[in-house]
Amino acid sequence: MPLSPERVIRRHIEPSDAYERYEPDTNGHEPIRLDWNESPFGLSPRAEATLRAFVAGNRYPAIDQALLREALGDYLGVDSDRVIAGAGLDDVINTLATTIIEQGDEVIIHEPTFGVYRSLFGLHGAKVVNVALGPPPDFALSVDGILNAIGERTKLVLLCNPNNPTGNLFPKDDLVKTIEAAPCLVAIDEAYAEFSGASHTDLALAYDNVITLRTMSKFAGLAGFRVGYGVFPGSLMPWFRRASPAFFNVSAPAAAVAIASLADLDHLKVNAERIIVERERLSGQLNDILGVLAFPSATNFVLVSLPMKDASTVVTALARHGLLVRHFSHPDLANCIRISIGLPEHHDRLLDVLRQTLESAPEDQT
Ligand SMILES: Cc1ncc(COP(=O)(O)O)c(C=O)c1O
Repeated sequence: MPLSPERVIRRHIEPSDAYERYEPDTNGHEPIRLDWNESPFGLSPRAEATLRAFVAGNRYPAIDQALLREALGDYLGVDSDRVIAGAGLDDVINTLATTIIEQGDEVIIHEPTFGVYRSLFGLHGAKVVNVALGPPPDFALSVDGILNAIGERTKLVLLCNPNNPTGNLFPKDDLVKTIEAAPCLVAIDEAYAEFSGASHTDLALAYDNVITLRTMSKFAGLAGFRVGYGVFPGSLMPWFRRASPAFFNVSAPAAAVAIASLADLDHLKVNAERIIVERERLSGQLNDILGVLAFPSATNFVLVSLPMKDASTVVTALARHGLLVRHFSHPDLANCIRISIGLPEHHDRLLDVLRQTLESAPEDQT
């Protein structure tokens, strides 16, 4: 007898196709990936040497990842006892959900934002409540809206700051007001902090309901290694540690490469600065194109509004030249594309193709 899904699958899980990276037709061109907010730079010298020398793949990593968590704690200036690590920040968010969510609990987010939040907390059985950001160009956080939406079952307010995909940084006052009034946890996802000139680790140290979330994927260029982490409330650490997977899910080579990268912090900071400079140059050039607006960004990507109702045709046209950028289905963003910051030569090519594409766009699109 065939096994029925109802017999074994958790009731609230909706079936879906596997999550796939959009692989468009590049018309034979080598793809230039400006679609997933990755770093265009390779490993730092120490990280490269560490990876080459790594041999102990037959041994498990340290069960508590003490050296990794110490290096991450030192980087942020916090005690490593407060650091939870994971196989990428997605995995740390998963540990957070595992620890706090019971079926029907609520999590407040602000869309448009990072799509993983809705999907992951939904998978854990949470009701995801959206308190929408204000309209472009400000994409402002509605602090009053968030505070009004908090109910008995709200476990978490999850703020993405700077926000993906809009790129803006919320005023610190908004964060503090939310934290001080919320009777639940407030997590601040700072995946892009190193490009923003702002860090909110101080809030995690000052308030016992604050979690700050970070990753080595973006500024450190370790997306493929999968190392994320967060600063969690000291009083709740026994529970978060209980729910964390063995080895925090970080492989030995990934931990070694992350530690070596942090020993090359000056190198990483120079790379982050290059990305910031290039972000500003690209934004300036985009804003010189008639009808195009690059929203201010505090990240390693820019959200760009185009003079048309639906920018997905431009995404396809760019892809046909090998240039991969992102389009989002959110109604406020239908006319936008998101461009990750790559190398200057990538952007020069993108600007050329974008200008040509917009010039040949049919009138009724605009
Ligand atoms: C806001 C935000 N949080 C978390 C992540 C996940 O990062 P990681 O690669 O560490 O899983 C991303 C990746 O794009 C992101 O944009």
